[in-house]
Amino acid sequence: MKIKDTISVHDQGAAQYDKQTHDYNSYGHDVLFGMSFEYVKPRDCLLDLGIGTGLASRLFAKLRLNIYGCDGSIKMLKMCESKAFATELKIFDLHDTPLPYSDSFFDHAICCGVLHFFDDLEIILKEVFRIIKPGGIFAFTIAAQTSAEAAATRNDSKGYFETPTPWGVSIFKHSSRYISNLLQDNGVDILKTQKFLIRGGPEDDSEDMLFSAFISCNKNPVGG
Ligand SMILES: C[S@@+](CC[C@H](N)C(=O)[O-])C[C@H]1O[C@@H](n2cnc3c(N)ncnc32)[C@H](O)[C@@H]1O
Repeated sequence: MKIKDTISVHDQGAAQYDKQTHDYNSYGHDVLFGMSFEYVKPRDCLLDLGIGTGLASRLFAKLRLNIYGCDGSIKMLKMCESKAFATELKIFDLHDTPLPYSDSFFDHAICCGVLHFFDDLEIILKEVFRIIKPGGIFAFTIAAQTSAEAAATRNDSKGYFETPTPWGVSIFKHSSRYISNLLQDNGVDILKTQKFLIRGGPEDDSEDMLFSAFISCNKNPVGG
């Protein structure tokens, strides 16, 4: 299944998404929130890229941040809208850059459980750092490479590879070095990083997948 289908797959699964996440004990959104907590404050404006049903940004809304979100799936957005915590929700395919926001509009951005559907992250990362203010954080997850996978692909210049999943969609696993280099190229510091496992199914550990969370900080002036 190709990348474009990730939106229709989420449209189809939107009604069950929150329950399934709970049943699978899949709490990447809590990991990302806990790592970001010290860098945000009430009334900050935060953009959630691929907001889905709002599991990650709802935690920031409880801290009284102003939440903006975009997602390609109208049904995921409807579920999010029903929770009534977001200031603005937009339907938007994240492959269609530029992002529909002006320079330095947001204090912070998050992207939880989305970037593993993308191959090259160069354009989207550049766009994110265009729309967040200097000093703001971008907190995101990627599907991480295991040490065996990293060793096997060490000489591959791309820095990521595509792999099938049990749920019928292909995902991309990015190397830590690829992410570090991209952030460095954008003048961005990594404040924290943490690897964690996400369960792929409710029953056993055989479908667990390794993810990494990154909290990065944009220190550059706009256009810098
Ligand atoms: C695994 S869910 C994560 C949702 C939410 N961020 C969370 O933490 O629960 C992935 C989300 O990314 C969205 N998505 C996938 N590909 C996309 C694309 N090309 N453009 C916009 N949204 C996309 C899906 O519709 C879905 O809502």
